[in-house]
Amino acid sequence: MKKTLLQVPAALAVLVSLTGFSSLYAAEAGNVNDQRIIDATEAEPGNWLSYGQTYKEQRFSQLTQINNNNVDELNLAWSKPIGDYNMRMQGTPLVVDGVMYVTNGWSVIYALDATNGEEIWHYDPEVDRSYARLACCGPAHNRGVAVYEGKIFVGTFDGRLIAVDAGTGEEIWDVDTWIPEGLGRFNITGAPRAAAGKVYIGQGSGESGHRRGYVTAYDTKTGEVSWRFFLAPGDPSKPFEHPEMEMAAQTWGGEWWKYGGGGTAWNSLVYDEEFNSLYIGVGNGAPWPREIRSPGGGDDLFLSSIVSVDVDTGRMNWYYQTTPGDNWDYSSAMDMTIGEIEFGGEMRKVLLQAPKNGFFYVLDRNDGELLRALPYTEGIDWATRIDMETGRPVENPDVAYETKPQWIMPANSGAHNWEPQSWDNDQGLMYFYYHDIANFYSLDEGFVETGEYEIRERGLSLGWGEGEYRRRLIEEAGPRPDSQAYIGAFDPITGSYKWRHPLESDYNGGVVATKGDVLFHPEGTGEFTVRDTNTGEVLWQYSAPGSFRSTSVMTYQVDDTQYVATLMNGNRAIDLGGTVLAFKLNGDATLPMPEIVEATVPQLPDTEFSGEQVRSGDTLYHAQCASCHGGIGIADEVAIVAPDLRLMSLESHAAIRDIVLGGSRAQQGMPDFEDAISTEELESIRAFIVTQARQLRQYQQNR
Ligand code: HEC
Repeated sequence: MKKTLLQVPAALAVLVSLTGFSSLYAAEAGNVNDQRIIDATEAEPGNWLSYGQTYKEQRFSQLTQINNNNVDELNLAWSKPIGDYNMRMQGTPLVVDGVMYVTNGWSVIYALDATNGEEIWHYDPEVDRSYARLACCGPAHNRGVAVYEGKIFVGTFDGRLIAVDAGTGEEIWDVDTWIPEGLGRFNITGAPRAAAGKVYIGQGSGESGHRRGYVTAYDTKTGEVSWRFFLAPGDPSKPFEHPEMEMAAQTWGGEWWKYGGGGTAWNSLVYDEEFNSLYIGVGNGAPWPREIRSPGGGDDLFLSSIVSVDVDTGRMNWYYQTTPGDNWDYSSAMDMTIGEIEFGGEMRKVLLQAPKNGFFYVLDRNDGELLRALPYTEGIDWATRIDMETGRPVENPDVAYETKPQWIMPANSGAHNWEPQSWDNDQGLMYFYYHDIANFYSLDEGFVETGEYEIRERGLSLGWGEGEYRRRLIEEAGPRPDSQAYIGAFDPITGSYKWRHPLESDYNGGVVATKGDVLFHPEGTGEFTVRDTNTGEVLWQYSAPGSFRSTSVMTYQVDDTQYVATLMNGNRAIDLGGTVLAFKLNGDATLPMPEIVEATVPQLPDTEFSGEQVRSGDTLYHAQCASCHGGIGIADEVAIVAPDLRLMSLESHAAIRDIVLGGSRAQQGMPDFEDAISTEELESIRAFIVTQARQLRQYQQNR
């Protein structure tokens, strides 16, 4: 079926269908509905209509113009800067009838002409940037939009869900997804999904403050709440919001509600028209150690679970918990894909997920029956296997970090995280990238001593101890085990890889495979790589001046041309912001490729600091600053998206009060800490930074 798109001013697209439709119709922009998304895989492979391509979220394209015979002719078709270098680019662009809808880290939506990147409109929700201080994982990020019946939906970094007109970018409605029942506020980083007349969204930042996850379904037309499903129970002395919470409360211990508990649905929501259900991928427990959160408790439902909810009633159909009593930040919010697999001589409608914990799950979508759960990596310490009788992991008794702090695989970043996977339903193969990285797990010092733990209202509350204490434990435990990332084609039924190759960077982007036998894969090194899906062999690479760490990729076709698009993270060193890159065969666009030089430590203040100052600064820094500026002295504990403070200039040292306590860089994503830390504490943090910078300079000079 061939479609021609005539573009009249703005995005008032007129879609003329030559075959396949009963009549010609003039469509407004974003004219997407349930049936169109359901049929899209076969009927319109040139469009990418929903976060995971279609409702099935297979991210496998039928397009073949770019294939394993001609991919060496691939080149940049256009680029469009849409972000700054302090934000993480994680979105999947959607393409509907020649228009690309894509977001930057501050939840700004751009509608671009998909053939050349020219802006049609943009909508800025004017996110309250002070929400950066809630963020678990760096300043601003957003994974994209939903398009439905002429509207574009975006979840914002300050916790709102917004509908705008797909043709003009004008706002239609704007709701705060927060509910004030003693729960802290949230960030939203995930993409909403729209189906069956509703738009669905959860939230993120489970570890900052008292968080209790939930998913809300809103009427797409009005923004009114249709239903809300909680993912962790509240205070049992108050009425439960719905019957599932009463059941869930039986599986918690102690006074969990005082901590919140976690269980945010920050990424994966999958609609299944065959069962009229929404599958919710539920996140980790908070704080992380179950001994703090839920002493004497059990499974802590619905942490790290997949929950199937009826989209009309909001009542639960079934659930399956991948990590009962989560103790390691093993979220089950990773992408879920739905498809069909032949199993025991029968076709089964299945749901597939490779969550953080290292096992690959195949569930029956009808009732949640566990069909397979085989390891997708050798790097699993916490459990030895999944017992198929009970459907539960068999935890490794030697890996109890409460009594013996230690390195454990997978890390809290997961063997596989949210970076999207691609499912070839015909071959029964999942293409994805994962990594073996160990994390050092320990139990909070104060909690060990007193049995008490207090959640912070600002910054993260992980419950694993900080600063000097944690560093000492790590020193005693010995070196961090080696890490390695891989990309492969995995058969979840046999648990084997058709092929698997090591990757250079530990952190990479998601993937898309196509019927043209190519696999598109943006890498953390800044290479945009194309592999042969049959062998995994590298066919072509493009070196970008930014990185593709945790980005995503998609492919689309407009008129006769297939494109592949990805988002590139910016690069502070060369003043390059987050950018959309689109490639096509024989593209002729170029991006500047400056040389990146290693940063050296500049002149440092000669202030003298006491050992006590440095130690307390160490703890404060890792509690309040490391989530964005990166762990210092602890091998890459968290993502570094904000500048390395050891490289700070004398001017910034002089201005540090304005920056940290006065909010002078709030618009750039540096939150103000006025009500969180004192002037004296800030001076301790500076003592720690300067001491660390002196050490780094020594190291650089000795090399
Ligand atoms: C939510 C993320 C986030 C957190 C948490 C955070 N920062 Fe920042 N910070 C940033 C970003 C982004 C920038 C870069 C702003 C810019 O481009 O000007 C920055 C910049 C700075 C700068 C200026 C650096 C320079 O080279 O000029 C200082 C100083 C700073 N931060 C200190 C801190 C301290 C101290 C803490 C902890 C109390 C902290 N930050 C916590 C995101 C964060």
